[in-house]
Amino acid sequence: VAGCGSGGSSGAAGDGKITMGFAQVGAESGWRTANTTSVREAAGKAGIELKFSDAQQKQENQIKAIRSYIQQKVDVIAFSPVVESGWDTVLKEARNAKIPVILTDRAVDSTDTSLYKTFLGSDFVEEGRKAGKWLVEEYGDSKDPVNIVELQGTTGSAPANDRKAGFAEVIGADPKFKVVASQTGDFTRAKGKEVMEAFLKSNPDIDVLYAHNDDMGLGAIEAIEGAGKVPGKDIKIITIDAVRDGMRALADGKINYIVECSPLLGPQLMDLAKKVVKGEQVPARVVTEETTFTQEQAKQALPTRQY
Ligand code: AHR
Repeated sequence: VAGCGSGGSSGAAGDGKITMGFAQVGAESGWRTANTTSVREAAGKAGIELKFSDAQQKQENQIKAIRSYIQQKVDVIAFSPVVESGWDTVLKEARNAKIPVILTDRAVDSTDTSLYKTFLGSDFVEEGRKAGKWLVEEYGDSKDPVNIVELQGTTGSAPANDRKAGFAEVIGADPKFKVVASQTGDFTRAKGKEVMEAFLKSNPDIDVLYAHNDDMGLGAIEAIEGAGKVPGKDIKIITIDAVRDGMRALADGKINYIVECSPLLGPQLMDLAKKVVKGEQVPARVVTEETTFTQEQAKQALPTRQY
């Protein structure tokens, strides 16, 4: 039997088939669905047996899933941590069981970087900066104050922390940019709508919405239309991801700018998994290549958009 007594190195020592335990965040957004599809398809193509779990955006569920993968003696564990903090104990358990861990999409804030082999994913701070740069250019000539509301991702998650920080760094250089309200919408459409409704009630003069993902932006568009305002005109909207629904809203003029965050991490993840199982060296950090989209660029990109 693959893995018998080998402390989780069955891929190299057993029948050659690698087993990966993958602890996914959930199914909170279009991005996440595309990411799950990418991981599943890539595992199939690479001949890697995938054990998959959906944590429903709860850290305790992810920890349980990782512990169960350790018990099952998988060859490699990959996971996208819901939040950044609180992983050291379970990661030490994996290390003691000699099971390599790969972080994908989101980072952990552990100071002990030997707890995982590599981190594959986007530079979320840079994404936030790109969003801020567009805004600075868009309002370049204006002297008037620009009132911004921000829909943050899941509290404590790397993309929420970093996208907020990167954006704040860029707009902070000019005091006319004012973030008048900032709250989590948990990366979901429903929460994005709900929080935007509250923002609209308490802030009569919103110029810009910065949403940490397309889904929250799409929910907010419903709230804005419900309040009798025109999204993309009365309130300018910047989002992150560039999933198909977001790109459609961008092409339709309801969103003004999208910073891409690629969910297609599956193929690179499987390559890295094969290497770490063999004990080969891998880079400590693999950053995803990404672009940005204006409304015109969205129209061009939509017909061939994969997700
Ligand atoms: O971690 C990536 C983020 O998680 C995506 O931007 C968001 O849509 C998802 O839920």
